[in-house]
Amino acid sequence: MDFVLVSLMFLAIGFSLAIALEPSPLQDLCVADLKGQVFMNGFACKHPSMVHADDFYFGGLHMKGNTSNALGSKVTPVFVTQLPGLNTLGISLARIDYAPFGVNPPHTHPRASEVITVLEGSLEVGFVTSNPENRLISKTLCKGDVFVFPVGLVHYQKNNGNTNAIAIAALNSQNPGVMPIANVIFGSKPDIKKDILAKAFQIGEDAIANIQRRF
Ligand SMILES: *[C@@H]1O[C@H](CO)[C@@H](O)[C@H](O)[C@H]1NC(C)=O
Repeated sequence: MDFVLVSLMFLAIGFSLAIALEPSPLQDLCVADLKGQVFMNGFACKHPSMVHADDFYFGGLHMKGNTSNALGSKVTPVFVTQLPGLNTLGISLARIDYAPFGVNPPHTHPRASEVITVLEGSLEVGFVTSNPENRLISKTLCKGDVFVFPVGLVHYQKNNGNTNAIAIAALNSQNPGVMPIANVIFGSKPDIKKDILAKAFQIGEDAIANIQRRF
């Protein structure tokens, strides 16, 4: 009897862990009503009779993102706000373009793991594990290679070559979120106080102010 209870307990824990990221859909269709007034986790559903094929469609991922920026990279997201049919499904994707030697800088996705596939060019990719190891796991990828960044971990990509590179990233969230480390730390509104960042980074407040100005 005790054994059965304990087994059930572990089963219950297992299930709650299995749904720790995004809950499963409770009906066939819950197309996001992006203009809905209900503030909830995800989006309210459009009435199923009002749903049409375009709610499940996104066009234009064949088009190159504009990489003329300081980083030399551009992410074109296909998340629930671009593709309302993704609501409640727990998946999404993005196209990432890289100019020669362009960087998609260190960032995390608070709600998703990411599987990246290189379509063109060559990418140097990496992620860092949590404290205290902070191990950097990195690799150079070529066309057709696939790599995974586990949920929440800081990761990056760099185009290693002098030609453009393209990747497709798949994520297990309809709205994975992105936290570029530099923007989050040095570009918050309002600023994190300089004395806090000076201590965190073990550097003078002038250096902190210098970086904050760029973000
Ligand atoms: C790409 O972005 C740059 C910088 O914002 C802009 O000057 C340029 O016109 C854009 N190019 C295209 C093709 O949109």
